[in-house]
Amino acid sequence: MRPDPAAEEGVAVRTLCIDVGGTGLKALIIDERGRAQGPRVRVATPRPATPEAVLEALCALISPLGKYERISMGFPGVVTGGITRSAPNLDGDWANFHLAEKVSASTGKPVRLLNDAGVQGLGVIEGKGVELVLTLGTGMGCALFVDGRYVPNLELAHHPFKGHQTYEEYVSAKAREKLGNKKWNKHVARVIAQVIPVFNPDRIYLGGGNSKHLRIALPPRVKVTPNEAGLLGGLALWKD
Ligand code: BGC
Repeated sequence: MRPDPAAEEGVAVRTLCIDVGGTGLKALIIDERGRAQGPRVRVATPRPATPEAVLEALCALISPLGKYERISMGFPGVVTGGITRSAPNLDGDWANFHLAEKVSASTGKPVRLLNDAGVQGLGVIEGKGVELVLTLGTGMGCALFVDGRYVPNLELAHHPFKGHQTYEEYVSAKAREKLGNKKWNKHVARVIAQVIPVFNPDRIYLGGGNSKHLRIALPPRVKVTPNEAGLLGGLALWKD
């Protein structure tokens, strides 16, 4: 693994934060205080979203960007040790893809890679007690934190919710398109009501691109967080 440039004292460190989404690939360079160092760029996720196609599109997206010293990436599936294990909303075989290593080889920078909801959570949690993050986008992301420590790869999305329908099928972007916003909001409210007595979290954060369509009254200690947090969490990813 390449060394973390921040380990050298007095060196300004910029982080390139990348979010691999089922609909879009997004990137933004931020400084040590989370301030944007250029535009947030986005390109549609190539279809079919095979590892090769996504890698190529990512490299094209980030190559014109300014200077940065390290990279943080959020990925829409299970990730262990920089290797992707699943990607329900992408295509092709992501079961053993060394994504962090590949991006590091193409850019010459160290890369840290985590599940997208995990990265989002790192950008918003308080770091105390049990905190649950649910992201509402193409799929449904879920991340659990205990006193600021991430419990990796809790894939609540694929647990049955109602009948044969999983949580993800119940509140995904496709569900919203099919049901309309009003019914989709009711579905999200039911999901929240279901997870509260199961996880008994101190706080729940709702994020992801579709959280802007939420119109329900939220229970206490549940709040909507800005989608940009998904990128800002990339800074926290380098705090050991
Ligand atoms: C994946 C999760 C991911 C979520 C949001 C789900 O289908 O299983 O790992 O966080 O989508 O992208």
